[in-house]
Amino acid sequence: MSIDSPEARKRVLSGMRPTGEGRLHLGNYMGALHNWVQLQHRYESYFFVADLHALTSDYADTSQLRQNTFDVALDFLSAGLDPQTCTIFVQSQVKPHFELPQLLGMITPLGWLERVPTYKEQLENIKGKDLTTYGFLGYPLMMASDILLYQAHFVPVGQDQVAHVEFTREIARRFNSFYPFNPTASQAALRGPDLLPIEVLPEPQVLLTPSPKLPGTDGRKMSKSYGNTILLTDSEPVVRQKLKTMVTDPARIRRSDPGDPEVCPVFDLHKVFSSVETQERAREGCTTAGIGCIECKSWVADAVVAELVPIQERRNKYESNPSLVTDILEEGKLRATSRAEQTMREVRAAVGLSE
Ligand code: TRP
Ligand code: SF4
Repeated sequence: MSIDSPEARKRVLSGMRPTGEGRLHLGNYMGALHNWVQLQHRYESYFFVADLHALTSDYADTSQLRQNTFDVALDFLSAGLDPQTCTIFVQSQVKPHFELPQLLGMITPLGWLERVPTYKEQLENIKGKDLTTYGFLGYPLMMASDILLYQAHFVPVGQDQVAHVEFTREIARRFNSFYPFNPTASQAALRGPDLLPIEVLPEPQVLLTPSPKLPGTDGRKMSKSYGNTILLTDSEPVVRQKLKTMVTDPARIRRSDPGDPEVCPVFDLHKVFSSVETQERAREGCTTAGIGCIECKSWVADAVVAELVPIQERRNKYESNPSLVTDILEEGKLRATSRAEQTMREVRAAVGLSE
């Protein structure tokens, strides 16, 4: 794609909370970062660590916040987000992330916030934290501001965040109806032709992250709480060992029994990580009892290891030189601030604030 094609001017933005959950596993990676790494080449992309969002619920003990924030940035870079290609930053370091929520708060009906499905759900389900705060109620508004600050066209998120993007669209619509845009010629030129008719805050669209079935070693969904994960930091022998003990088609008891790949969790991993040729060889070998499960698993291990090696190489590079990461975040802060300020100038003018 050439840099001046219409797609090149479209912006993508997404964020991840530094929850302190610890090391990422393959399921986390496929559920977000892997997708972002592809998108960075197609769009002008902004990816950030949502440390303010972490504060909305974990305000009582912030002793790990800075470290967790750094660790997520390290995950971004290890996964293959390239600071030459996209902008990587920490939310709290870009001051407009404090300013826009305040302004949008003026036009946000309380009922809209109270009706966001995740709000009541979390209030009821999360124990041990007092979430009856102004900040927690405002979570979706802060997320809307994150997105609208970059006038993002697309927001790659999982199903759990779709309601938040829908909320963002409603806020944008309300803002635009209260405050129509009267661009100066140079502002209009900056925006480019693709955003006509000009609205200060264009409505973003969800780019739903494809979620392939990714079972853990026990055949259930890969999840930290099941203890069935393959971590992005697992060494090759660990990956091979974990896969060796992975459950298979339970009907395939003896080596001479043919199996059914469609009910085998190992085959689900083949579908995600192996080449089409390898998938076909595994299917053929399985259904004819031409191969054993050990061999089939070793092929899947080859594919998983091939995915992990470059990730681990990048992680080693950045871990042994953490100032590389801080330099990237500093640069990202400048780039993000400059783009967000461009929006804020339009916002302030539209609202009628003094210059
Ligand atoms: N709420 C998102 C999550 O929990 C994180 C997030 C914050 C975000 N701001 C965002 C995602 C803006 C996309 C766009 O996953
Ligand atoms: Fe599963 Fe592969 Fe064994 Fe077939 S051969 S049951 S696909 S592990």
